[in-house]
Amino acid sequence: MTPARVVLATSSHELDRDPELALVVDELAAVGVEAEAVAWDEVGHDWTAHELVVVRSCWDYTERLGEFLAWARAVPVLANPLAVLEWNTDKTYLRDLDARGCPVIETVWDPTDVAELGDHAEWVCKPSVSAGSRDTARWSDPVDALTHAAELRAAGRTAMVQPYVASVDDEGETALLFVDDAFSHAIRKAPLLAPGEGVRQDRSSAGGITPRTPTDAQLDVARTALDVVATAVPSAGPLLYARVDLVTGADGLPRVIELELTEPGLFLPWSDGGAGRLSGAIRSRLSDS
Ligand SMILES: Nc1ncnc2c1ncn2[C@@H]1O[C@H](COP(=O)(O)OP(=O)(O)O)[C@@H](O)[C@H]1O
Ligand SMILES: [Mg+2]
Repeated sequence: MTPARVVLATSSHELDRDPELALVVDELAAVGVEAEAVAWDEVGHDWTAHELVVVRSCWDYTERLGEFLAWARAVPVLANPLAVLEWNTDKTYLRDLDARGCPVIETVWDPTDVAELGDHAEWVCKPSVSAGSRDTARWSDPVDALTHAAELRAAGRTAMVQPYVASVDDEGETALLFVDDAFSHAIRKAPLLAPGEGVRQDRSSAGGITPRTPTDAQLDVARTALDVVATAVPSAGPLLYARVDLVTGADGLPRVIELELTEPGLFLPWSDGGAGRLSGAIRSRLSDS
């Protein structure tokens, strides 16, 4: 059997679950490109046999970051490219955004004293390498936030403590999706952290997604974030896909909570034509385009 020209890399758990895989495979088939989904850690798979490998729902990489990046290094043509993945798989990239003038949620890294956490009503503590709100919690007592941070540090992880951004409770988060650096669509994501719940590993944003039209201010901040990528990762080139997650700060202005360039859910089922735009961008990266 001839290998597919394009592979959408996923995880073994998502292979039959992620609805975006079939959407994109079908869109590519409609423009004459054979594509298939393969788990990134499938034993014995020949990753050199494809023209392009697109990183999609590899959501188990957060527990195996070294292994995942070693896999990425061995894939000849990858989107988004390896250098972007190396920069983006650890939320310490928020420091680069901040240093280059992009508004982000204020973050204390690896705090060791409660005085570092500032005066807020609530805090969020999370590890810098994570997805799906795992090992993340909302605390009303700063001592709990500090204890959580100490546990993450003891496990060899980088801890982030932020003020809990109160607007998330009503307004949710706004995720702006870009294809080839052009705005494609946006959605609202419902709040995920309930007060008093502590750390949970089973949160899912799946039920709380609705389409949303971004404001000009949100589009500006998202574009600023993407401009930073071009300088922080000079070899990045046009990004096949990007998701900029924003929240509204106490000052009413958008701030980046997360910049997802590795394996973002793209919320294609909530967009008009998003899957077609993505498959077109994939198609344009192939040799005979
Ligand atoms: N500072 C914060 N204020 C309010 N909500 C937050 C904050 N940080 C995280 N959250 C909530 O936790 C979820 C997961 O955090 P996030 O930083 O997006 O990491 P990831 O999605 O990679 O797990 C967010 O979608 C949001 O609902
Ligand atoms: Mg998130």
